[in-house]
Amino acid sequence: MSYNLLKGKRGIIFGALDENSIAWKTAERVNEEGGKFVLTNAPIAMRMGNIQQLAEKTGSEIIPADATKVEDIENLVEKAMEVLGGKLDFVLHSIGMSVNVRKGNHYTDMNYDFTTKGWDVSAVSFHKTMQVLYKKEAMNEWGSIVALSYMAAQRVFPDYNDMADNKAYLESIARSFGYFFGKDKKVRVNTISQSPTPTTAGTGVKGFDGFIAYADKMSPLGNATALECADYTLTLFSDLTKKVTLQNLYHDGGFSNMGVSQEVMDTFMKDQE
Ligand code: NAI
Repeated sequence: MSYNLLKGKRGIIFGALDENSIAWKTAERVNEEGGKFVLTNAPIAMRMGNIQQLAEKTGSEIIPADATKVEDIENLVEKAMEVLGGKLDFVLHSIGMSVNVRKGNHYTDMNYDFTTKGWDVSAVSFHKTMQVLYKKEAMNEWGSIVALSYMAAQRVFPDYNDMADNKAYLESIARSFGYFFGKDKKVRVNTISQSPTPTTAGTGVKGFDGFIAYADKMSPLGNATALECADYTLTLFSDLTKKVTLQNLYHDGGFSNMGVSQEVMDTFMKDQE
């Protein structure tokens, strides 16, 4: 269903790799709601995914940018304003990657070069993006910036590895930069803490099948899908949430406030028999 929630709004969407990506679903939904945007991803992802297909479907341009490179982000933001014909109203940061996770390094046996790369891609890239937007005066007043997080930032999920630390860092950047963006530019900054979701990044985490099933059984409303995450993101881009800022917003079917559910207890008790 479409409500024209984003009619007349312009933005940038980072991180659509393939049709499973949360950013992909968000781009489709923003398009349905009347928003215009530029798509961006790391140059290497252009070769791996099928972002071109999404660009055609939504009538968007693609401007490649490695989100760890400030020059790339500067070029992206300038070109996006040119292409879209004005300042921006929304930005989605939907980027995450840990080299330690990819290489299967245990949390107690990290390669710190990989750790550095991981926090640069997953967290500092959000600071870099906001700093460029801030310095270039690229956001309209009452604009909205959103990044995606996961609850391993607050609770222990052993296999989530250093991505847990990266997400804690990301959420802190959202608050710290959000203060200045709010005070100086009347722009809001939030993170959405999403349920486990079967995407390229998600399924790369060891034991993913187990914790997506566990989270689903634990959550009174079940896991939130990528499409539902897209819908929630739209509300944060819309004018209906103007005073929501500096928040980490759980979008997880209730998981984050659960102790135990009957289903999880039943499964556990079955194993005891
Ligand atoms: P995805 O694999 O589809 O998206 C990750 C994106 O990050 C890819 O498009 C990739 O090309 C991009 N990326 C990696 N390095 C980059 C760089 N240097 N510059 C620019 N882009 C780069 O997976 P998904 O799940 O859609 O991930 C989106 C966000 O959602 C991430 O922040 C992820 O941590 C977060 N998230 C995912 C959950 C899941 O279970 N899938 C749960 C909670 C949060």
